Amino acid sequence: MLHNYRDEVWTSERAVLFSPLIKNVLLHRNPHKTGIPIGRILNDTRIIFWDPFKAINPHILIVGPTGSGKTETLLAILRRAHIIYNSTIIFVDVKGDIIKRLIERKIDHVLIDIPDTSLGSLEPYYTSSWLRLYQVFDSIVESYEIDDLRLQGVLFKILKKVYEKKDVPKWEDVFSEISEEEDLNGIIERILREIASLDRRDTGHYKIVKNKINVITLRSLSKEREELLRYAINMIFQDMINMTSRENPDDQVKTFLGLDEAWMLLSRGLSKRIINLMRLARGYGLSVALATQDFRDFGEHWDLIVENIGLLIIMSNPNRNFWREASDFLKINNKLIEDLMILMKRGDAVIRILPDPRPIPISIDIND
Ligand SMILES: Nc1ncnc2c1ncn2[C@@H]1O[C@H](COP(=O)(O)OP(=O)(O)O)[C@@H](O)[C@H]1O
Ligand SMILES: [Mg+2]
Repeated sequence: MLHNYRDEVWTSERAVLFSPLIKNVLLHRNPHKTGIPIGRILNDTRIIFWDPFKAINPHILIVGPTGSGKTETLLAILRRAHIIYNSTIIFVDVKGDIIKRLIERKIDHVLIDIPDTSLGSLEPYYTSSWLRLYQVFDSIVESYEIDDLRLQGVLFKILKKVYEKKDVPKWEDVFSEISEEEDLNGIIERILREIASLDRRDTGHYKIVKNKINVITLRSLSKEREELLRYAINMIFQDMINMTSRENPDDQVKTFLGLDEAWMLLSRGLSKRIINLMRLARGYGLSVALATQDFRDFGEHWDLIVENIGLLIIMSNPNRNFWREASDFLKINNKLIEDLMILMKRGDAVIRILPDPRPIPISIDIND
């Protein structure tokens, strides 16, 4: 199936007329000849490949409005990566869209359904217990926006005592360290009890299974409990950073981390952690694949994220202003924007493969 892609002869079902500019762009291109098949060039027989091992930068960003095919594209690319490289795939699935489709299509996967599967954030997963103490502390302070230094002090003291006594503490160990006089209004206790609910079974840390498709879904967590959701995501990213930095960089098998609807995470102030993860990941064989609705989702960190994107996929979009924004990172002019808006249908995209800023219009085949 996948392996026949290159031999396949394909003719466009849509008799599309291209501006000379696009043809010109295609003629001058020297794309990857191996790697993950991404899609077929519009009105052409060629398949565009992207090779994360040869890419200047191993990360992927998919941008497009609701219904444009982001989730399908993310799924298709990471599934191909899994088949071709036997890679470990980790989806962070905030809404539950990914898990739903994997189940419907009977695609083999490892389900990590927080809190049915315990988050186990107290456990030093791929790290030391001393570092874990700081990771838990930082994530709580950041997620719950604890600015009060006195409260931070109370929290730190509790966690320090706990980790001094045990390398792998349980929540009961934490609660037994809470002193009522210090935690005056019970604020810290309330927060810790809420976080403990992510480990309903206290069965330890969830396990990522190598060479499998793992889905960490937060679909069961109430989207109203923003702080708790933020804590869970913070710790999951922390786990990825820990895992990645413990992996052998010479290991030829890559790990792909897929984040669908990344805007939900980014609006929770997590873009800095994503950027850190991307920077760190480069040396350690981790590729981050993000799908989001708009460039603006990244706020002030936009250029930092795009700098780290080796494969940019811009899904078909009916909004002219969107394309004008895209022209900051893509070599497109008004004429080309007009052409693209007429040509592109659902499942079509314009991609940019660094270091070449010229756009390649493609049609994404979401089937195996
Ligand atoms: N490349 C494609 N080819 C054909 N149909 C597609 C393609 N991508 C998406 N679709 C269809 O469009 C629908 C919406 O796609 P989805 O990936 O959920 O969009 P988004 O995540 O951007 O909201 C899907 O249910 C699927 O049927
Ligand atoms: Mg989607």
